Amino acid sequence: MSNKILVINGPNLNLLGEREPEIYGKMTLKEIEKKVKDFAHQKGAEIEWFQSNFEGEIIEKLHQAKGIFNGIIINPAALSYTSYSIFDALKAVNIPCIEVHLSNIFSREDFRKKTVTASACLGIISGLGWKVYLYALMYLIT
Ligand code: DQA
Repeated sequence: MSNKILVINGPNLNLLGEREPEIYGKMTLKEIEKKVKDFAHQKGAEIEWFQSNFEGEIIEKLHQAKGIFNGIIINPAALSYTSYSIFDALKAVNIPCIEVHLSNIFSREDFRKKTVTASACLGIISGLGWKVYLYALMYLIT
């Protein structure tokens, strides 16, 4: 198991590109996936890319990560604000994890400012657009 990174994307991120592009940018999730995978290959790392609109599926994916991945990048989207189950799953699998958000959640509505999942992560990168995935990857593999 060397440099295998799981990238998890939560609810509504399948709509990137068409969803509020002034906030989230014009790139689709598929286009971001390609950029991140290309970068990972250059660095000798392997990415599994996952998106779900269902909290339970994200938790199942986290459980399956144990023993397979040595890093996780997660954009829990709005589940960041509610999901103690994802917090517990991240703690349970105990794989180094970075939370990312394309938008700056600290400069938006108040409800976005307190993420419960981030405290189960090593750190959080927020507000730098699609490149948050790249920066998180760089941290995990270098
Ligand atoms: C998001 C920010 C969240 O507040 C929002 O619910 C999302 C996307 C981001 O990547 O900027 O769905 O996680």
